[in-house]
Amino acid sequence: MIQLSNIMKSYRQGATVVDVLRGVNLEVAAGASVAIVGASGSGKSTLLSVMACMDRPDSGRLVLNGRDATALTESELAQLRNRQLAIVFQSFELVPAFTALENVMLPLEIRGSAAHAVAAEALHSVGLSHRLHHLPGQLSGGEEQRVAIARALAQDTPILFADEPTGNLDRGTGSEITEMLLRGVREREKTLVLVTHDPEFARHADRIMRLDNGVLTAETGK
Ligand SMILES: Nc1ncnc2c1ncn2[C@@H]1O[C@H](COP(=O)(O)OP(=O)(O)O)[C@@H](O)[C@H]1O
Ligand SMILES: [Mg+2]
Repeated sequence: MIQLSNIMKSYRQGATVVDVLRGVNLEVAAGASVAIVGASGSGKSTLLSVMACMDRPDSGRLVLNGRDATALTESELAQLRNRQLAIVFQSFELVPAFTALENVMLPLEIRGSAAHAVAAEALHSVGLSHRLHHLPGQLSGGEEQRVAIARALAQDTPILFADEPTGNLDRGTGSEITEMLLRGVREREKTLVLVTHDPEFARHADRIMRLDNGVLTAETGK
């Protein structure tokens, strides 16, 4: 489902070149979940934005659901993103003027699917049936992230990415959110790549990989 071969990515800042990804290899089977851990600044977000086709690698190959993303034009890439993946961010990224229900409906309406029932069901599945008409500003952080997870799950995409989805939450809420996310992707048989700073949350995934020195290695014990 997701295949990365020898992915390289550097950032240039003035005269300095920072080699962030130095040959990353990863294979995630359909329906499997992988957690990626690593120190702050190790390149986890860079790797995720490459995998989610938001940023191109300097070299290497990325295949999503059988399609070589590195060979696509910008518009083909946009279409691939739209059909294949959904993303959950640390900062939730909800539209402040929209209710919980409207936030979940928005990407579905863009796709032209029957939005209302699907969105309401997704919010129900994350325990938010009683918050459908609340605005993000009227929700707790944990509830906001549950809306963002419902939004990602409701989209009919086989792949879900999450970049530190619990980074702005307290530990207890973070644990609940991680369990909810894993349950949601397993029920819907989605493929998940979860970036997390917390090894305890990473344990919920099928497999743990560590990003260190620009390469991914399997974390022992999982
Ligand atoms: N757009 C950018 N331009 C220059 N350097 C960047 C950019 N994005 C990230 N970096 C650098 O790349 C490294 C990895 O960053 P990041 O992927 O955000 O790490 P992590 O998510 O693991 O904390 C850091 O040293 C960061 O400063
Ligand atoms: Mg990051």
